[in-house]
Amino acid sequence: MSEETVCRAGPSLALIKYWGKSVKGDNLPATPSLAVTLGGVHTETRAAVAGEHDAMTVDGAAQDPARYSFFFDTLRHTLGITARFRAASVNSFPTSAGLASSSSGFAALTGACARAAGCDPSAADLSAMARAGSASAARSVFGGFVLLPAGARRARQVCGPEHWPDLRIVVAVTHRAPKPVPSRRAMEETRATSPYYFSWIKESAELLPEALRALETRDLELLGETARRSYSLMHGAILGARPPLLYWLPATVAVIHACAAMRTAGVGAWETIDAGPQVKILCLTRDVEAIVARVGSLGSGIQTLICRPGPGLQYGPEPANPPDTVAPNPPDTVAR
Ligand code: PMV
Repeated sequence: MSEETVCRAGPSLALIKYWGKSVKGDNLPATPSLAVTLGGVHTETRAAVAGEHDAMTVDGAAQDPARYSFFFDTLRHTLGITARFRAASVNSFPTSAGLASSSSGFAALTGACARAAGCDPSAADLSAMARAGSASAARSVFGGFVLLPAGARRARQVCGPEHWPDLRIVVAVTHRAPKPVPSRRAMEETRATSPYYFSWIKESAELLPEALRALETRDLELLGETARRSYSLMHGAILGARPPLLYWLPATVAVIHACAAMRTAGVGAWETIDAGPQVKILCLTRDVEAIVARVGSLGSGIQTLICRPGPGLQYGPEPANPPDTVAPNPPDTVAR
């Protein structure tokens, strides 16, 4: 058995969403996606070269080897190795609940396994290997703001976390259980059965330039409105699938309405939602307190996590007092 290596990655929160594959069975995205890698939450993966079969656990639970075989085979092929791996991932946030645990999970797994095998691939190659596990993982390899173009094999960083030091993402965790339908399956059902799928693909491509411009100029209102359009179109297409699929819960809808009310009252809060019931609210540092209080006042046991643009892959165990990558900042907190 090789020495164990440790790698951490933050979840990739898409502002412009990826939903749909251009080639069935491979994770080549049909839509471009633009995301921010979150700091303050992460997956930590320990990996070693060991045994004759790959073995993987997530939060202590053994995983179905079939879900990982394409990923491990791609990794071996790319690195030119034959090693098998034993790996264990732990998430600092709810798993498979619409908080992009597959993005941080496969990115951290890629980094940990490559190092365990004694390899030091480029970030671009790490991104391409991570994509074999989950397309959004191609983005989590990089920190800050990350683009995965439609049909691309790898993501690239648009700008680092320091580009927008006072941007915050308040995550409203409305439900901690795993989602009923994994995004992989829901995506395929949307492609195969939703009459809105092709409109979704077309509109997504048109949203990207707007989002890039908003990012470049740090125009939160424009970015927020573009992100709202992206998630609304995506969930519209998902609802149009047969059978229809609705990831939202009553608490999800309550947070959407609360964001609209906050914007009317002059608090900058723009929400986005992935394949699950959680709501992520884009805002600036100055509005975090008001947003956390407003979401907390909705009841329903909604928990809030406060995240910021975070780093890309980090190796080694988490330091006891992680350095602040973006200053000045309140500490990352979990509030009720
Ligand atoms: O990469 P996957 O298969 O976990 O799918 C991610 C899908 C969304 O989170 C809904 C959107 C995105 O771009 O991350």
